[in-house]
Amino acid sequence: MGREVALVHCARCHVVDAGNRLGGIGSTPSFRLLMSLPDGEHRFATFFDRRPHPAFVRMEGVEPLTPLPANAAEAEMTVDDLDALIAYALSLKSASD
Ligand code: HEC
Repeated sequence: MGREVALVHCARCHVVDAGNRLGGIGSTPSFRLLMSLPDGEHRFATFFDRRPHPAFVRMEGVEPLTPLPANAAEAEMTVDDLDALIAYALSLKSASD
């Protein structure tokens, strides 16, 4: 389920795994790269609060930081989506491709 969330909400900017290796936007870090960082899991758990995401991610239970309209297609996410996403990101750590 986390992979689906990532493909729907993240893959238009990030390379999430081998399935969209050629996707994403060049300057945006891949999920594998992010998860290779010592605090990768923490970065995923708080991504909605990290630039550039607050401008377009609407996280369940989190007040929008800004009343301005989203500057990119808005992503509405639930806490369950986030949990699934983190589990998926963790699985990338051990993936071999
Ligand atoms: C509109 C483009 C876009 C979308 C959609 C997007 N991201 Fe990002 N993301 C970025 C960019 C650009 C950066 C790099 C920001 C930087 O380095 O300053 C980034 C960085 C990150 C980081 C690292 C943040 C940090 O502070 O190190 C994480 C984690 C992340 N994204 C997770 C996600 C997840 C999870 C989703 C989907 C739910 C997602 N992103 C959707 C553009 C996007």
